[in-house]
Amino acid sequence: MSARQAKAKLQFVCQACGQPSPKWLGRCPACGAWNSFAEERQAARPSSAAVPAPSRPPLRLNEVSRQETGRLRTGLEEFDRVLGGGLVPGSLVLIGGDPGIGKSTLLLQAVFSLAQSGLPVLYVSGEESAGQISLRAGRLGSAPDSLWLLCETRVDEILGAIAAQRPAVVVVDSIQTLTHPDQGAVPGSVSQIRECGQALLACAKADGPAILLVGHVTKEGVLAGPRVLEHLVDTVLYFEGDRQQGYRVLRTVKNRFGSTNEVGLFEMTASGLQAVPDPSRWLLKERHPGAAGSAVAVSLEGTRPLLVEIQALTATAYFGMPQRRVSGLDYNRCCLLLAVLERRAGISVGGQDVFLSVAGGLSVTEPAVDLAVALAVASSLKDQPLPPSLAVMGEVSLGGDIRAVSQAERRCREAQQLGFQRCLVPGPNLADLKTPPGMDIVGVATLAEALAAVRG
Ligand code: TYD
Ligand code: MG
Repeated sequence: MSARQAKAKLQFVCQACGQPSPKWLGRCPACGAWNSFAEERQAARPSSAAVPAPSRPPLRLNEVSRQETGRLRTGLEEFDRVLGGGLVPGSLVLIGGDPGIGKSTLLLQAVFSLAQSGLPVLYVSGEESAGQISLRAGRLGSAPDSLWLLCETRVDEILGAIAAQRPAVVVVDSIQTLTHPDQGAVPGSVSQIRECGQALLACAKADGPAILLVGHVTKEGVLAGPRVLEHLVDTVLYFEGDRQQGYRVLRTVKNRFGSTNEVGLFEMTASGLQAVPDPSRWLLKERHPGAAGSAVAVSLEGTRPLLVEIQALTATAYFGMPQRRVSGLDYNRCCLLLAVLERRAGISVGGQDVFLSVAGGLSVTEPAVDLAVALAVASSLKDQPLPPSLAVMGEVSLGGDIRAVSQAERRCREAQQLGFQRCLVPGPNLADLKTPPGMDIVGVATLAEALAAVRG
Protein backbone atom coordinates (compact mmCIF):
# COMPACT_ATOMS: atom_id res chain seq x y z
CA MET A 1 0.00 0.00 0.00
CA SER A 2 1.40 3.44 -0.87
CA ALA A 3 1.98 6.02 1.84
CA ARG A 4 -0.64 8.20 0.18
CA GLN A 5 -3.33 5.51 0.37
CA ALA A 6 -2.53 4.86 4.02
CA LYS A 7 -2.86 8.58 4.71
CA ALA A 8 -6.20 8.84 2.95
CA LYS A 9 -7.72 6.34 5.34
CA LEU A 10 -7.21 8.51 8.41
CA GLN A 11 -9.76 11.19 8.93
CA PHE A 12 -11.46 13.17 11.63
CA VAL A 13 -15.15 12.58 12.37
CA CYS A 14 -17.48 14.67 14.55
CA GLN A 15 -18.65 12.38 17.35
CA ALA A 16 -21.91 14.29 17.67
CA CYS A 17 -23.19 14.23 14.10
CA GLY A 18 -20.82 12.13 11.99
CA GLN A 19 -19.46 15.02 9.87
CA PRO A 20 -16.08 13.96 8.40
CA SER A 21 -13.18 16.34 7.98
CA PRO A 22 -9.63 15.86 6.61
CA LYS A 23 -8.20 17.88 9.53
CA TRP A 24 -9.04 18.43 13.17
CA LEU A 25 -11.51 21.22 13.83
CA GLY A 26 -12.35 22.88 17.14
CA ARG A 27 -15.98 23.34 16.23
CA CYS A 28 -18.08 21.18 13.93
CA PRO A 29 -19.30 23.26 10.96
CA ALA A 30 -22.34 20.97 10.58
CA CYS A 31 -23.79 20.72 14.10
CA GLY A 32 -21.85 23.42 15.98
CA ALA A 33 -20.56 21.03 18.68
CA TRP A 34 -17.25 22.07 20.29
CA ASN A 35 -14.26 19.78 20.59
CA SER A 36 -16.16 16.88 19.05
CA PHE A 37 -13.70 15.74 16.36
CA ALA A 38 -11.79 12.50 16.88
CA GLU A 39 -9.39 10.75 14.56
CA GLU A 40 -10.76 7.58 13.00
CA ARG A 41 -9.31 5.05 10.63
CA GLN A 42 -11.72 4.16 7.84
CA ALA A 43 -12.08 0.55 6.70
CA ALA A 44 -10.58 -0.14 3.28
CA ARG A 45 -13.27 -0.22 0.62
CA PRO A 46 -12.92 -2.32 -2.54
CA SER A 47 -12.23 -0.23 -5.63
CA SER A 48 -15.34 0.42 -7.68
CA ALA A 49 -13.55 0.30 -11.05
CA ALA A 50 -15.05 -3.03 -12.12
CA VAL A 51 -18.85 -3.19 -12.43
CA PRO A 52 -19.98 -6.32 -10.56
CA ALA A 53 -22.70 -8.53 -11.95
CA PRO A 54 -25.96 -8.05 -9.98
CA SER A 55 -26.47 -10.92 -7.58
CA ARG A 56 -30.18 -10.13 -7.36
CA PRO A 57 -31.96 -8.65 -10.39
CA PRO A 58 -34.63 -5.95 -9.83
CA LEU A 59 -38.20 -7.18 -9.43
CA ARG A 60 -41.44 -5.75 -10.80
CA LEU A 61 -43.34 -4.29 -7.85
CA ASN A 62 -46.62 -5.90 -8.90
CA GLU A 63 -44.96 -9.32 -9.01
CA VAL A 64 -43.71 -9.15 -5.45
CA SER A 65 -45.81 -11.43 -3.28
CA ARG A 66 -47.33 -9.36 -0.52
CA GLN A 67 -46.95 -11.64 2.42
CA GLU A 68 -48.28 -9.96 5.53
CA THR A 69 -46.04 -11.54 8.08
CA GLY A 70 -47.76 -11.58 11.41
CA ARG A 71 -46.47 -9.19 14.01
CA LEU A 72 -44.83 -10.60 17.10
CA ARG A 73 -46.81 -9.51 20.12
CA THR A 74 -44.62 -8.88 23.13
CA GLY A 75 -47.53 -9.12 25.54
CA LEU A 76 -46.70 -5.69 26.93
CA GLU A 77 -49.83 -3.92 25.70
CA GLU A 78 -48.32 -0.42 25.75
CA PHE A 79 -45.11 -1.49 24.03
CA ASP A 80 -47.03 -3.30 21.27
CA ARG A 81 -49.25 -0.30 20.64
CA VAL A 82 -46.31 2.09 20.35
CA LEU A 83 -44.70 -0.28 17.84
CA GLY A 84 -47.90 -0.12 15.77
CA GLY A 85 -49.37 -3.45 16.87
CA GLY A 86 -46.34 -5.56 17.69
CA LEU A 87 -42.84 -6.22 16.45
CA VAL A 88 -42.44 -6.70 12.69
CA PRO A 89 -40.22 -9.72 11.89
CA GLY A 90 -36.93 -8.64 10.32
CA SER A 91 -37.21 -5.05 11.54
CA LEU A 92 -34.57 -3.00 13.33
CA VAL A 93 -35.85 -1.00 16.31
CA LEU A 94 -33.78 1.52 18.24
CA ILE A 95 -34.71 2.44 21.81
CA GLY A 96 -33.03 5.53 23.21
CA GLY A 97 -33.14 6.95 26.70
CA ASP A 98 -31.18 8.32 29.63
CA PRO A 99 -29.08 5.87 31.64
CA GLY A 100 -31.08 4.17 34.36
CA ILE A 101 -34.47 5.04 32.88
CA GLY A 102 -35.33 1.36 32.38
CA LYS A 103 -34.45 0.45 28.78
CA SER A 104 -32.85 -2.86 29.73
CA THR A 105 -35.76 -3.66 32.05
CA LEU A 106 -38.34 -2.89 29.35
CA LEU A 107 -36.62 -5.05 26.76
CA LEU A 108 -35.98 -7.89 29.15
CA GLN A 109 -39.67 -7.87 30.08
CA ALA A 110 -40.66 -7.83 26.41
CA VAL A 111 -38.42 -10.77 25.53
CA PHE A 112 -39.55 -12.63 28.64
CA SER A 113 -43.10 -12.80 27.38
CA LEU A 114 -42.01 -13.45 23.77
CA ALA A 115 -39.92 -16.38 24.95
CA GLN A 116 -42.76 -17.58 27.16
CA SER A 117 -44.85 -18.01 24.02
CA GLY A 118 -42.15 -20.40 22.73
CA LEU A 119 -40.23 -18.06 20.38
CA PRO A 120 -36.44 -18.42 20.47
CA VAL A 121 -34.98 -15.13 21.74
CA LEU A 122 -31.37 -14.01 22.11
CA TYR A 123 -30.45 -11.27 24.59
CA VAL A 124 -27.00 -9.83 23.87
CA SER A 125 -25.48 -7.65 26.53
CA GLY A 126 -22.28 -5.73 26.15
CA GLU A 127 -22.79 -3.78 29.36
CA GLU A 128 -23.77 -6.23 32.05
CA SER A 129 -22.48 -9.63 33.04
CA ALA A 130 -24.67 -12.73 32.88
CA GLY A 131 -24.93 -12.62 36.68
CA GLN A 132 -26.19 -9.03 36.68
CA ILE A 133 -28.81 -9.81 34.06
CA SER A 134 -29.89 -12.86 35.99
CA LEU A 135 -30.34 -10.67 39.09
CA ARG A 136 -32.58 -8.32 37.15
CA ALA A 137 -34.47 -11.22 35.60
CA GLY A 138 -35.07 -12.54 39.12
CA ARG A 139 -37.20 -9.48 39.85
CA LEU A 140 -39.34 -10.15 36.80
CA GLY A 141 -40.10 -13.84 37.38
CA SER A 142 -38.55 -17.13 36.33
CA ALA A 143 -36.77 -17.07 32.97
CA PRO A 144 -38.37 -19.09 30.16
CA ASP A 145 -36.47 -21.90 28.43
CA SER A 146 -36.16 -20.32 25.00
CA LEU A 147 -34.46 -17.15 26.25
CA TRP A 148 -30.72 -17.23 25.50
CA LEU A 149 -28.11 -14.91 26.88
CA LEU A 150 -24.85 -13.77 25.27
CA CYS A 151 -22.41 -11.33 26.87
CA GLU A 152 -20.45 -10.13 23.87
CA THR A 153 -19.35 -6.88 22.25
CA ARG A 154 -17.84 -8.08 18.94
CA VAL A 155 -20.45 -7.73 16.23
CA ASP A 156 -19.06 -10.61 14.13
CA GLU A 157 -19.41 -12.97 17.11
CA ILE A 158 -22.98 -11.77 17.61
CA LEU A 159 -23.83 -12.34 13.94
CA GLY A 160 -22.28 -15.81 14.22
CA ALA A 161 -24.45 -16.61 17.23
CA ILE A 162 -27.55 -15.39 15.37
CA ALA A 163 -26.69 -17.55 12.35
CA ALA A 164 -26.15 -20.60 14.54
CA GLN A 165 -29.16 -20.18 16.79
CA ARG A 166 -31.65 -18.53 14.40
CA PRO A 167 -33.63 -16.64 17.05
CA ALA A 168 -36.86 -14.81 16.13
CA VAL A 169 -35.97 -11.77 18.21
CA VAL A 170 -32.58 -10.36 19.27
CA VAL A 171 -31.92 -7.62 21.81
CA VAL A 172 -28.59 -5.79 21.63
CA ASP A 173 -27.83 -3.79 24.77
CA SER A 174 -26.27 -1.44 23.76
CA ILE A 175 -25.11 -0.34 20.29
CA GLN A 176 -22.49 1.94 21.90
CA THR A 177 -20.60 -1.04 23.32
CA LEU A 178 -20.25 -2.96 20.03
CA THR A 179 -17.05 -3.19 18.03
CA HIS A 180 -16.63 -4.09 14.37
CA PRO A 181 -13.46 -6.03 13.41
CA ASP A 182 -12.80 -3.75 10.40
CA GLN A 183 -12.80 -0.64 12.53
CA GLY A 184 -9.91 0.61 14.60
CA ALA A 185 -11.95 3.28 16.37
CA VAL A 186 -13.04 3.03 20.00
CA PRO A 187 -16.50 1.56 20.79
CA GLY A 188 -19.20 4.23 20.75
CA SER A 189 -17.52 6.35 18.06
CA VAL A 190 -19.49 7.32 15.00
CA SER A 191 -17.74 4.93 12.61
CA GLN A 192 -18.08 1.98 15.01
CA ILE A 193 -21.77 2.64 15.55
CA ARG A 194 -22.39 3.08 11.83
CA GLU A 195 -20.57 -0.11 10.84
CA CYS A 196 -22.14 -2.20 13.62
CA GLY A 197 -25.59 -0.76 12.89
CA GLN A 198 -25.19 -1.58 9.21
CA ALA A 199 -24.03 -5.14 9.94
CA LEU A 200 -27.06 -5.74 12.17
CA LEU A 201 -29.38 -4.15 9.61
CA ALA A 202 -28.08 -6.45 6.89
CA CYS A 203 -28.63 -9.42 9.22
CA ALA A 204 -32.22 -8.39 10.06
CA LYS A 205 -33.17 -7.70 6.43
CA ALA A 206 -31.75 -10.99 5.13
CA ASP A 207 -34.72 -12.90 6.50
CA GLY A 208 -33.24 -12.57 9.96
CA PRO A 209 -34.66 -11.81 13.37
CA ALA A 210 -36.32 -8.63 14.57
CA ILE A 211 -33.52 -6.73 16.31
CA LEU A 212 -34.07 -4.34 19.21
CA LEU A 213 -31.12 -2.00 19.77
CA VAL A 214 -30.54 0.02 22.90
CA GLY A 215 -28.95 3.44 22.32
CA HIS A 216 -27.74 5.89 24.91
CA VAL A 217 -28.79 9.50 24.90
CA THR A 218 -26.52 12.51 25.36
CA LYS A 219 -27.00 15.36 27.85
CA GLU A 220 -28.84 17.28 25.14
CA GLY A 221 -31.36 14.46 24.81
CA VAL A 222 -30.41 13.14 21.37
CA LEU A 223 -29.19 9.64 20.65
CA ALA A 224 -25.50 9.56 21.48
CA GLY A 225 -23.14 9.41 18.54
CA PRO A 226 -24.80 9.20 15.27
CA ARG A 227 -27.89 10.56 13.71
CA VAL A 228 -26.91 8.05 11.00
CA LEU A 229 -28.35 5.32 13.17
CA GLU A 230 -31.77 7.00 13.22
CA HIS A 231 -31.85 6.95 9.41
CA LEU A 232 -30.75 3.35 9.27
CA VAL A 233 -33.33 1.73 11.52
CA ASP A 234 -37.05 1.15 10.89
CA THR A 235 -38.31 2.45 14.20
CA VAL A 236 -36.90 4.88 16.75
CA LEU A 237 -38.45 4.93 20.22
CA TYR A 238 -37.52 7.13 23.15
CA PHE A 239 -38.01 6.01 26.71
CA GLU A 240 -38.21 8.97 29.03
CA GLY A 241 -39.74 10.09 32.27
CA ASP A 242 -39.26 11.49 35.69
CA ARG A 243 -37.12 9.17 37.78
CA GLN A 244 -38.47 10.62 41.02
CA GLN A 245 -42.10 9.96 40.15
CA GLY A 246 -41.51 6.46 38.85
CA TYR A 247 -43.49 6.81 35.65
CA ARG A 248 -42.05 6.34 32.17
CA VAL A 249 -43.24 7.40 28.74
CA LEU A 250 -42.37 5.43 25.62
CA ARG A 251 -42.68 7.62 22.55
CA THR A 252 -42.19 7.00 18.81
CA VAL A 253 -39.98 9.35 16.83
CA LYS A 254 -39.92 7.33 13.63
CA ASN A 255 -41.90 4.27 12.64
CA ARG A 256 -41.95 2.68 9.21
CA PHE A 257 -44.73 0.34 10.36
CA GLY A 258 -47.06 2.56 12.36
CA SER A 259 -48.02 5.98 13.64
CA THR A 260 -45.41 8.27 15.18
CA ASN A 261 -47.74 9.89 17.67
CA GLU A 262 -48.27 6.91 19.92
CA VAL A 263 -47.19 7.08 23.53
CA GLY A 264 -47.06 4.23 26.02
CA LEU A 265 -47.20 4.89 29.74
CA PHE A 266 -45.50 2.72 32.32
CA GLU A 267 -44.82 2.83 36.00
CA MET A 268 -41.55 1.47 37.43
CA THR A 269 -42.32 -0.82 40.34
CA ALA A 270 -40.26 -3.18 42.46
CA SER A 271 -41.15 -6.00 40.06
CA GLY A 272 -40.43 -4.23 36.78
CA LEU A 273 -42.46 -1.94 34.57
CA GLN A 274 -46.24 -2.00 34.79
CA ALA A 275 -48.49 -0.50 32.12
CA VAL A 276 -50.66 2.38 33.31
CA PRO A 277 -54.12 1.10 32.43
CA ASP A 278 -56.07 4.38 32.53
CA PRO A 279 -53.56 7.12 31.69
CA SER A 280 -55.99 10.06 31.72
CA ARG A 281 -57.22 9.27 35.22
CA TRP A 282 -53.65 8.78 36.31
CA LEU A 283 -52.48 12.08 34.77
CA LEU A 284 -55.27 13.99 36.50
CA LYS A 285 -55.02 12.26 39.85
CA GLU A 286 -53.29 15.14 41.61
CA ARG A 287 -55.38 17.89 40.11
CA HIS A 288 -57.03 20.45 42.40
CA PRO A 289 -60.21 21.20 40.46
CA GLY A 290 -60.87 24.63 42.02
CA ALA A 291 -57.39 26.08 41.42
CA ALA A 292 -56.87 29.17 39.29
CA GLY A 293 -54.52 28.71 36.34
CA SER A 294 -55.50 25.12 35.65
CA ALA A 295 -57.32 23.91 32.54
CA VAL A 296 -57.96 20.37 31.33
CA ALA A 297 -57.26 19.76 27.66
CA VAL A 298 -58.37 16.72 25.69
CA SER A 299 -55.44 15.83 23.49
CA LEU A 300 -55.15 12.96 21.05
CA GLU A 301 -51.83 11.13 21.31
CA GLY A 302 -51.70 8.78 18.36
CA THR A 303 -54.84 6.70 18.52
CA ARG A 304 -55.69 7.45 22.11
CA PRO A 305 -57.42 10.48 23.64
CA LEU A 306 -55.60 11.73 26.73
CA LEU A 307 -56.77 14.27 29.26
CA VAL A 308 -53.98 16.51 30.42
CA GLU A 309 -53.94 19.33 32.91
CA ILE A 310 -52.33 22.53 31.65
CA GLN A 311 -51.05 24.70 34.48
CA ALA A 312 -50.27 28.39 34.16
CA LEU A 313 -48.86 30.86 36.62
CA THR A 314 -48.54 34.56 35.98
CA ALA A 315 -46.64 36.79 38.39
CA THR A 316 -45.55 40.43 38.29
CA ALA A 317 -42.15 40.73 36.59
CA TYR A 318 -39.73 42.77 38.68
CA PHE A 319 -36.56 42.63 36.66
CA GLY A 320 -36.28 43.85 33.08
CA MET A 321 -37.77 41.52 30.49
CA PRO A 322 -40.68 39.39 31.72
CA GLN A 323 -39.83 35.69 31.65
CA ARG A 324 -41.68 32.96 29.79
CA ARG A 325 -40.87 29.45 31.02
CA VAL A 326 -42.53 26.45 29.43
CA SER A 327 -42.25 22.75 30.15
CA GLY A 328 -43.98 20.02 28.20
CA LEU A 329 -45.35 22.48 25.62
CA ASP A 330 -43.87 24.15 22.57
CA TYR A 331 -42.23 27.42 23.69
CA ASN A 332 -42.85 29.33 20.46
CA ARG A 333 -46.46 28.21 20.32
CA CYS A 334 -47.02 29.46 23.88
CA CYS A 335 -45.50 32.88 23.08
CA LEU A 336 -47.78 33.08 20.06
CA LEU A 337 -50.82 32.28 22.22
CA LEU A 338 -49.87 35.05 24.67
CA ALA A 339 -49.78 37.49 21.75
CA VAL A 340 -53.17 36.29 20.50
CA LEU A 341 -54.62 36.66 24.02
CA GLU A 342 -53.46 40.27 24.11
CA ARG A 343 -54.50 41.31 20.62
CA ARG A 344 -57.73 39.33 20.13
CA ALA A 345 -59.12 39.02 23.64
CA GLY A 346 -57.71 42.09 25.39
CA ILE A 347 -55.86 40.05 28.04
CA SER A 348 -52.37 41.47 28.38
CA VAL A 349 -49.54 39.67 30.15
CA GLY A 350 -47.00 42.33 29.15
CA GLY A 351 -45.67 43.04 32.65
CA GLN A 352 -46.00 39.46 33.87
CA ASP A 353 -43.70 36.48 34.10
CA VAL A 354 -45.56 33.49 32.64
CA PHE A 355 -44.84 29.88 33.61
CA LEU A 356 -46.61 27.05 31.79
CA SER A 357 -46.42 23.33 32.28
CA VAL A 358 -48.22 20.07 31.65
CA ALA A 359 -48.97 18.32 34.94
CA GLY A 360 -47.41 14.88 35.25
CA GLY A 361 -44.37 15.84 33.16
CA LEU A 362 -45.84 14.67 29.86
CA SER A 363 -45.04 16.67 26.74
CA VAL A 364 -47.86 17.51 24.36
CA THR A 365 -47.31 18.87 20.89
CA GLU A 366 -50.84 18.76 19.49
CA PRO A 367 -52.29 22.21 18.63
CA ALA A 368 -55.64 21.09 20.10
CA VAL A 369 -54.29 22.04 23.54
CA ASP A 370 -54.00 25.74 22.50
CA LEU A 371 -57.36 26.69 23.94
CA ALA A 372 -56.53 25.13 27.32
CA VAL A 373 -53.21 27.04 27.42
CA ALA A 374 -54.95 30.35 26.67
CA LEU A 375 -57.71 29.73 29.23
CA ALA A 376 -55.21 28.65 31.91
CA VAL A 377 -53.20 31.86 31.43
CA ALA A 378 -56.35 34.02 31.57
CA SER A 379 -57.54 32.14 34.66
CA SER A 380 -54.24 32.66 36.48
CA LEU A 381 -54.04 36.32 35.53
CA LYS A 382 -57.54 37.04 36.81
CA ASP A 383 -57.20 34.58 39.69
CA GLN A 384 -60.51 33.00 38.70
CA PRO A 385 -60.66 29.19 38.55
CA LEU A 386 -62.32 27.54 35.55
CA PRO A 387 -65.42 25.41 36.21
CA PRO A 388 -64.08 22.15 37.78
CA SER A 389 -65.99 19.81 35.45
CA LEU A 390 -64.89 21.54 32.24
CA ALA A 391 -62.64 20.02 29.57
CA VAL A 392 -61.58 22.00 26.50
CA MET A 393 -60.13 21.39 23.05
CA GLY A 394 -59.33 23.60 20.08
CA GLU A 395 -56.53 25.11 18.08
CA VAL A 396 -56.25 28.90 18.29
CA SER A 397 -55.42 30.78 15.08
CA LEU A 398 -53.51 34.04 14.86
CA GLY A 399 -56.83 35.79 14.24
CA GLY A 400 -58.19 34.48 17.54
CA ASP A 401 -60.52 31.93 15.90
CA ILE A 402 -60.89 28.44 17.28
CA ARG A 403 -60.09 25.86 14.62
CA ALA A 404 -61.61 22.41 14.35
CA VAL A 405 -59.89 19.40 15.91
CA SER A 406 -59.92 15.81 14.66
CA GLN A 407 -62.10 13.18 16.31
CA ALA A 408 -63.92 15.63 18.59
CA GLU A 409 -66.54 13.05 19.52
CA ARG A 410 -64.02 10.51 20.80
CA ARG A 411 -62.39 13.22 22.85
CA CYS A 412 -65.73 14.24 24.37
CA ARG A 413 -66.48 10.62 25.27
CA GLU A 414 -63.13 10.23 26.98
CA ALA A 415 -63.79 13.42 28.97
CA GLN A 416 -67.20 12.10 29.96
CA GLN A 417 -65.75 8.80 31.12
CA LEU A 418 -63.58 10.72 33.54
CA GLY A 419 -66.53 12.60 34.99
CA PHE A 420 -66.33 15.86 33.03
CA GLN A 421 -69.79 17.22 32.34
CA ARG A 422 -68.99 20.13 30.08
CA CYS A 423 -66.81 20.37 27.00
CA LEU A 424 -65.75 23.46 25.06
CA VAL A 425 -65.35 22.39 21.45
CA PRO A 426 -64.45 24.40 18.34
CA GLY A 427 -67.54 25.84 16.60
CA PRO A 428 -66.74 24.15 13.26
CA ASN A 429 -66.82 20.73 15.01
CA LEU A 430 -70.40 21.15 16.28
CA ALA A 431 -72.08 20.31 12.94
CA ASP A 432 -71.09 16.63 12.89
CA LEU A 433 -70.78 15.92 16.57
CA LYS A 434 -73.22 13.61 18.33
CA THR A 435 -73.53 14.83 21.91
CA PRO A 436 -72.97 12.02 24.39
CA PRO A 437 -76.01 11.86 26.72
CA GLY A 438 -75.58 13.82 29.92
CA MET A 439 -72.82 15.98 28.49
CA ASP A 440 -73.05 19.72 27.90
CA ILE A 441 -71.21 20.56 24.69
CA VAL A 442 -70.52 24.25 24.06
CA GLY A 443 -69.27 25.33 20.64
CA VAL A 444 -66.99 28.36 20.57
CA ALA A 445 -65.87 30.13 17.41
CA THR A 446 -63.38 32.61 18.87
CA LEU A 447 -61.10 32.96 21.86
CA ALA A 448 -63.22 35.83 23.16
CA GLU A 449 -66.31 33.57 23.01
CA ALA A 450 -64.47 30.85 24.90
CA LEU A 451 -63.46 33.31 27.64
CA ALA A 452 -67.06 34.51 27.91
CA ALA A 453 -68.35 30.91 28.07
CA VAL A 454 -66.11 30.00 31.01
CA ARG A 455 -66.98 33.21 32.83
CA GLY A 456 -70.71 32.59 32.38
P1 TYD B 1 -32.33 -0.24 33.68
O1 TYD B 1 -33.27 -1.06 32.90
O2 TYD B 1 -31.06 -0.83 34.13
O3 TYD B 1 -32.02 1.13 32.95
P2 TYD B 1 -31.21 1.39 31.60
O4 TYD B 1 -31.01 0.10 30.93
O5 TYD B 1 -32.09 2.35 30.84
O6 TYD B 1 -29.94 2.04 32.03
O7 TYD B 1 -33.19 0.29 34.93
C1 TYD B 1 -32.59 0.60 36.05
C2 TYD B 1 -33.48 1.22 37.10
O8 TYD B 1 -34.74 0.61 37.26
C3 TYD B 1 -32.73 1.04 38.38
O9 TYD B 1 -32.64 2.30 39.01
C4 TYD B 1 -33.52 0.06 39.15
C5 TYD B 1 -34.90 0.20 38.61
N1 TYD B 1 -35.70 -1.04 38.67
C6 TYD B 1 -36.83 -1.08 39.45
O10 TYD B 1 -37.19 -0.10 40.11
N2 TYD B 1 -37.59 -2.23 39.46
C7 TYD B 1 -37.23 -3.34 38.75
O11 TYD B 1 -37.94 -4.35 38.80
C8 TYD B 1 -36.05 -3.29 37.95
C9 TYD B 1 -35.61 -4.48 37.15
C10 TYD B 1 -35.31 -2.11 37.93
MG1 MG C 1 -29.19 -0.87 30.56
